[in-house]
Amino acid sequence: MIEAVSNNSADATGPGERTNMSNPRERYADRVIDGKGFAEALRGRIGKNIAAINKAHGLKPGLAVVLVGDDPASKVYVRNKEKAAAEAGITATDHRLDASTGQAELVALVEQLNSDPAVHGILVQLPLPDQIDPNAVIDAIAPSKDVDGFHVINTGRLATSQMTGPDAALVPCTPLGCRMLLEDRLGDLSGMNAVVLGRSNIVGKPMAALLTQASCTVTVAHSRTKDLAEVCRRADILVAAVGRPQMVRRDWIKPGAAVIDVGINRIAAPSGEDPDKTRLVGDVDFDAAIEVAGAITPVPGGVGPMTIACLLANTVTAACRQNGIEPPAW
Ligand code: GUN
Repeated sequence: MIEAVSNNSADATGPGERTNMSNPRERYADRVIDGKGFAEALRGRIGKNIAAINKAHGLKPGLAVVLVGDDPASKVYVRNKEKAAAEAGITATDHRLDASTGQAELVALVEQLNSDPAVHGILVQLPLPDQIDPNAVIDAIAPSKDVDGFHVINTGRLATSQMTGPDAALVPCTPLGCRMLLEDRLGDLSGMNAVVLGRSNIVGKPMAALLTQASCTVTVAHSRTKDLAEVCRRADILVAAVGRPQMVRRDWIKPGAAVIDVGINRIAAPSGEDPDKTRLVGDVDFDAAIEVAGAITPVPGGVGPMTIACLLANTVTAACRQNGIEPPAW
């Protein structure tokens, strides 16, 4: 049952005690999926596994991070990935190239990293400058070191459910993290109706493949989908990955559904606040959606931290496979 929302800006809970129960985040706190907390715990497990692998095999996983140009958002993402890698015990090497770098030069760097035995994972941050074809660069990454899971060999292995053994798929980090959060909250996903809103190569398509493998009935919806709200309302699991701020409204959500918000959109602060201020919002109108959903990821603090944790997990998995070691089960 869905509780009514108080009109009071603050409900008194006792003499001198006030909690802001009109704030949906507080009122429905148990519905919030704590991606940040889950990611911290996963990173802790990754760190322990790295220490054990190092002790048993003398292996230290290495991740090469390549950034071309100086897109401010990409710089932040790359810094966060390198910091998280170092904290977990992964040797992160940083490769910064000028925005004018040509495709041949970038491919040559990737080939050099492919043949470096200390590098087990290669990440080329996207987007790349216009003069470089991202597919040509991704194609150049050795599939066994493709910790983003973007190479066609890995997307093909994922699509054909090659998920175990030395030649198993490396799975894109964001959808991998989303599935972990869903299974943690819901347990077995089989038989559930899942709607993936967005059909990108990075999130939508691999997310649909992972949910299909988990025996969900999957619909991939997008900007051309007819009756989009109606399609979304059928979802027991709704994954929003369209990059449109707060597009998913309260009445798009089936009561009790699990909502995973992959969007990270920067918008102007609400009127009345400093006009220079911005805030981060997802693809879901969180404050309205949480009144209907059974579980929902916040932005920030939901899917974002899981992407980084899964990058670290993929790096360890790749390092183990390249050295004939059974990778940990995350
Ligand atoms: N740009 C936005 N997301 C990603 C990602 O997951 N990996 C890479 N390499 N670039 C990105």
